[in-house]
Amino acid sequence: ELEDKKEKLYEINKEAARYFYKKLKTNNQALFYLKKRSIDRRTATIFGLGYSDWSWDSLYNYLIKKGYNEVDIEKAGLIIGKKGKDGYYDRFRNRIMFPIIDIRGRVIGFGGRVIDSSNPKYLNSPDTLIFSKGHNLFGLNILKKYSNIKKIILVEGYMDVISLYSQGINYAVASLGTAFTQNQAKYFKRYEDKVYICYDSDLAGLKATDKALEIFKKEGINAKVLILPSGKDPDDFIKEKGKKEFEELFKDSLNYIDFKIYFYKRQYNLNDPDEKIKFTKNISNFIKNVKSPIEADVYLDKISKETNISKEAIKKEIIGKSRIID
Ligand code: CTP
Ligand code: MN
Ligand code: MN
Ligand code: MN
Ligand code: MN
Repeated sequence: ELEDKKEKLYEINKEAARYFYKKLKTNNQALFYLKKRSIDRRTATIFGLGYSDWSWDSLYNYLIKKGYNEVDIEKAGLIIGKKGKDGYYDRFRNRIMFPIIDIRGRVIGFGGRVIDSSNPKYLNSPDTLIFSKGHNLFGLNILKKYSNIKKIILVEGYMDVISLYSQGINYAVASLGTAFTQNQAKYFKRYEDKVYICYDSDLAGLKATDKALEIFKKEGINAKVLILPSGKDPDDFIKEKGKKEFEELFKDSLNYIDFKIYFYKRQYNLNDPDEKIKFTKNISNFIKNVKSPIEADVYLDKISKETNISKEAIKKEIIGKSRIID
């Protein structure tokens, strides 16, 4: 019964994806938008990109004609019931449509991006019987095609995954705009120590990176961070610099503690004694949770070099907080 219900939603989503896909081919504005963002035909086809038009009910009418009932279409998140009135309207209008496809090739939801400057810039399917943002990733279906892939990059957005792919980096997935979750982290286990985070290089992205590192750590994954020039995202960067320079980023990737140092250095001025103290106290906090004394010692070394504060002093500071280092 539940399985039947789910099956129905997969079917409706697939039909909707086909509809959007066809619409894209005949809409010049949408095609122009993709061109402007350097997404070629081949890439658009591989990701199954589409377009939702201006109409309030074109998808609704199309799916009804196909024999689906409105309650199911609503449950798929594609239409919304009008408030205080009968009837429904299409959720997605005048947007480039990104189908979100699971490992088994089923369309579980959509993201939609406006092609003008209206808001919200991105709109996603709501959580449904078959879709939950915190449980899914964008791009997993593409990744699965390339079974020889040795590493994986976690990025923020649809456009990052697509842009990297079009330039030959076919091993990126996106966390769908919500905060990265423990559930999503499980998908990365098989890549062991070859997991890289490449979020946007703005404050929000850095904060999200910090959180994602902790989540990976809980999952036993030692993720590393690719650092982009300030203000850039992977899409911006690879468009500007190309594949080769993107690949250079791996050489300078930061591990857990290196990232903490980098992150906190951007927030504190180490030439100011008070701020240096705060920086050192903050960063020392991470060491108290480190279980391996060897690992802790390496971290201590790094912090000491960074601040010119003796390892002894930092150690003493930490001993007040933990029993591990002695
Ligand atoms: N996102 C979202 N809802 C928003 C904004 C963002 O769900 N209102 C998600 C989308 O999955 C998006 C990702 O977060 O792909 C990254 O967002 P952001 O960095 O703001 O996207 P931009 O890089 O600014 O988008 P674009 O390059 O398309 O302008
Ligand atoms: Mn943005
Ligand atoms: Mn962002
Ligand atoms: Mn972007
Ligand atoms: Mn971005």
